[in-house]
Amino acid sequence: MASISFEFSEAALRVIPPIELEIYRPKIERIWELKREKNAVILAHTYQSPQIYLTVADVVGDSLQLAREATKVDADIIVQAGVKFMAETSKVLNPHRKVLIPSLEAGCSLAESITGSDVVKLKEKYPGVPVVTYVNTNADVKAESDICCTSANAVEVVESLGVDRVIFLPDKYLGMYVASQTKVEIILGEGSCMVHERFTPADINELRRLHPGLTVMAHPECPPNILELADYVGSTSGMSRMVRESGLTEIALITECSMSANIAALNPSVNIVRPCQLCPHMQRINLDNIITCLENEEFEITIQEEQRLRAKAAIDRMLEVRVGVRG
Ligand code: 13P
Ligand code: SF4
Repeated sequence: MASISFEFSEAALRVIPPIELEIYRPKIERIWELKREKNAVILAHTYQSPQIYLTVADVVGDSLQLAREATKVDADIIVQAGVKFMAETSKVLNPHRKVLIPSLEAGCSLAESITGSDVVKLKEKYPGVPVVTYVNTNADVKAESDICCTSANAVEVVESLGVDRVIFLPDKYLGMYVASQTKVEIILGEGSCMVHERFTPADINELRRLHPGLTVMAHPECPPNILELADYVGSTSGMSRMVRESGLTEIALITECSMSANIAALNPSVNIVRPCQLCPHMQRINLDNIITCLENEEFEITIQEEQRLRAKAAIDRMLEVRVGVRG
């Protein structure tokens, strides 16, 4: 029986029916109790379901924010409510803390599209050309890369290298978007996000027909025919900021569906139109497996030290790049 009595925030009450929250209550209270007992924190990506993002998370954000915050937390245990590459990034930056992920099946179509040995082969094919790698990759890929990037800083990272040409891995659509924003030549990877590539121009046209005056914001993991139709292209943090600060009243977020619910919860004055494409990997994390994760301290992320240090060098280099307000 949990000894913590949890009060739901107004944001949670906005998007989760009270009856549903009461069903979750014992699990949520158990998670808070376990976090206190084990000196643990939960880092939750914006694509996590509202019952995680709005009730049990200690740190929330996009992948760059989580990577940064992971270095500041005062905790023995980090639970990554997100996917495996994010937990690996937290471990790379927090080698002395136990980093856990509630499900080992929380993968990512982008991370699975490339291995460290693929990067080695590309470096042999294009000698001397720096490798910029999206953080949505496993540690072995980061370890072979010169620098990492996220969707929030990809253009600045590419330009920070001061070269004419870079290899950009693995997201071909993010790579195409970066190429459209810079004079640097981009050698594209072949990966894609199975969630963002599902949107079609017909989806956008239908949304505009149903909601005249709608502002459409799209994540740069979407294909170019979607980005062409968007009013704004930005990362999860960029879109969140635009919703908060733009004064716009009706916005569609062309990105993972839980993010729309979380943003709607936090911005009650904006009507967030929600085309729903859920990430099946993000959905593998739930309140039940967060409880077993904390109780059994499983599944622990481990990275071989030499690989960790090389991956860390690529992440650290990214964190040194000055980022404007682009994305
Ligand atoms: P960002 O958090 O960097 O926008 O990444 C989006 C994503 O698909 C994460 O899985
Ligand atoms: Fe990977 Fe796409 Fe899911 Fe993000 S939304 S974890 S990029 S499959």
